[in-house]
Amino acid sequence: MSSEDKDEMVVTPWEVRGKVDYERLIREFGTQPLTEELLKRLESFTGELHLQLRRELFFSHRDLDTVLDLYEKGTKFVLYTGRGPSGPVHIGHLVPWIFTKHLQDHFDTRLYFQMTDDEKFLIDDENKLEDMTRYGFENALDLIALGFKPENTFIIYDVQDIDLLYDIALEVAKRITYSTARATFGFQDSTNLGWVFWPAVQAVPCFIHKKLTGENVPALIPAAIDQDPYWRITRDIAQKLGYHKPAQIHNRFLPGLGIGGKMSASEPETCIFTTDTPEVVKRKVWNAFTGGKGTATEQRKTGADPTICTIFQYFLYLFEQDDKKLAEREKRCRSGEILCGECKKELPERINTFLAEHQKKREKARDTLEKFHIKR
Ligand code: TYM
Repeated sequence: MSSEDKDEMVVTPWEVRGKVDYERLIREFGTQPLTEELLKRLESFTGELHLQLRRELFFSHRDLDTVLDLYEKGTKFVLYTGRGPSGPVHIGHLVPWIFTKHLQDHFDTRLYFQMTDDEKFLIDDENKLEDMTRYGFENALDLIALGFKPENTFIIYDVQDIDLLYDIALEVAKRITYSTARATFGFQDSTNLGWVFWPAVQAVPCFIHKKLTGENVPALIPAAIDQDPYWRITRDIAQKLGYHKPAQIHNRFLPGLGIGGKMSASEPETCIFTTDTPEVVKRKVWNAFTGGKGTATEQRKTGADPTICTIFQYFLYLFEQDDKKLAEREKRCRSGEILCGECKKELPERINTFLAEHQKKREKARDTLEKFHIKR
């Protein structure tokens, strides 16, 4: 692969690489930017702008305005998001879940959460089905630890719950041609048959609420932009099947601790897992890529660049709630008043405080796991 190929942006549900150009994704995927006006509307319902909206971590949507129009007229919506359980959860995965919880709290609405052990089995020759299923239950603990309400949260474990999904998956699959699926997902002659059918399964939770309750309401999906191809094909067929088009709100990727790219479990040293110990977190952050200069003297003189610094992004998106303190950190970084070592010491303290609490709640969640399993 040439270095040009390596830098080229690739964003699919299964691979994200290169420098992600979010403006370009909005254009190419045909989504809408989150406007000031729409944010104000959201704020009027929630009473505050969530940090992830204020700091533009969420940046794009499809039909969020339509969902809010309907809501104002008395039609509720359900939330839908998910996880492909092929390993432990990292803090990037928590980003859309934290925001989903905020929406559940303010709109008092159901969440359908899909655990796609089947997807992860199909897309990688190395992945064993029983391991993916086991990770599904482990990953559910991370979701529950964030504080979702059991009476309003329905986790679907695909392999275990396929009887609940299969009729809708068939209705969806029958209406999507191979040619559309190939154009959307880049399937090749060598792609296995299970994988080709599989996108129909990720569509199902957009529609399952009607089957369970008789209510026909739209689903709103908070997720990173990599999942968008699934919704494109689902939106095309939704109305033919008598459902609302599912709406989306898209987040950017939390970067990994290395140079460029999203946080991804395939590069564990650049990834903070929710199960990492404090020492491991310290080590990973210490080795992180920053916006610093070659020498301390140079940095004191010319300052550093927080816009390319992974550590700064973690403060920005997750670990500094206070806008004033964040602005202060940015100013001191740009002016050379602080050096990278200072941030590299502070960030692990914040992460470890969060993880200590999260890990406790995660263990406690073992007792309540079954309460969150979708009921029939
Ligand atoms: P998965 O397991 O790849 O990712 C789970 C969720 O995390 C988002 N995500 C990230 N967000 C911020 N920064 C990152 N570095 C980062 N990496 C991943 C993903 O967009 C996703 O929202 N096929 C899905 C499982 C799924 C699903 C869904 C996801 C089934 N139904 C509905 C979202 C919505 C998957 O493998 O996700």
